[in-house]
Amino acid sequence: MRARKKKHAQERLALCRDYLEEDPRAHRGAWREWFVSSGRMIAVGTLCLEIGCGKGDFATGYAKRDPAAAFCALERIRDVLVLAAEKAKEKETHNLVYLCEDAQNLTEFFAPGEVERLFLNFSDPWPKARHAKRRLTSPLFLPIYREILAPDGVLCFKTDNAALFDYSLETLPAAGFEVSHVTRDLHNSPENEGNIQTEYERNFSSQGFPIHRLEARKK
Ligand SMILES: C[S@@+](CC[C@H](N)C(=O)[O-])C[C@H]1O[C@@H](n2cnc3c(N)ncnc32)[C@H](O)[C@@H]1O
Repeated sequence: MRARKKKHAQERLALCRDYLEEDPRAHRGAWREWFVSSGRMIAVGTLCLEIGCGKGDFATGYAKRDPAAAFCALERIRDVLVLAAEKAKEKETHNLVYLCEDAQNLTEFFAPGEVERLFLNFSDPWPKARHAKRRLTSPLFLPIYREILAPDGVLCFKTDNAALFDYSLETLPAAGFEVSHVTRDLHNSPENEGNIQTEYERNFSSQGFPIHRLEARKK
């Protein structure tokens, strides 16, 4: 995502500081307890993590709809998080917190088996072969997700990009995931029930692109 420099980003983020966690390493292995002890939630149902959350439509929508879910949303570009954090503040989604970090360091923020639902929404496709390692479903990232995912945890992936989807259908099983609930046209499939659209999803589907989606569980 090309992010335009946000005016007064630091000041705007400071106004939303409750929705931005600057020291995620401090909560490794104890996110559930932290969501409760910080007064955000009374009890935690599911611990969710979105990687590459962009402007936060999915994270805010999910946290609003499921108040028992503790939702961490990761995005490496700070300026992008300005809008996301402002949205969370406006909607008062206390069960949602943003982390301005890179996915390659996830094991520093989450203990083995800690995350129960992991979302990858419209990850950058990086079409050139020499950039394949940057894809969030590359063999570089999948062992990281396997480590932090609970034994019965699920990884949900959706994209408009057929090539990235095909690639992921190969990399996921090779990394020890069982793939299920595959659809090449999410919006016209039964899997669409309860679907929360992201910014990219609205944009691509309005241009007529079908949305691909799958779920993956640890074998
Ligand atoms: C194409 S955008 C999609 C945004 C949003 N998920 C949506 O569907 O509208 C992908 C986002 O992932 C972020 N991203 C890419 N690689 C990342 C990484 N290694 N760690 C954290 N965020 C990453 C980018 O900065 C960008 O904001």
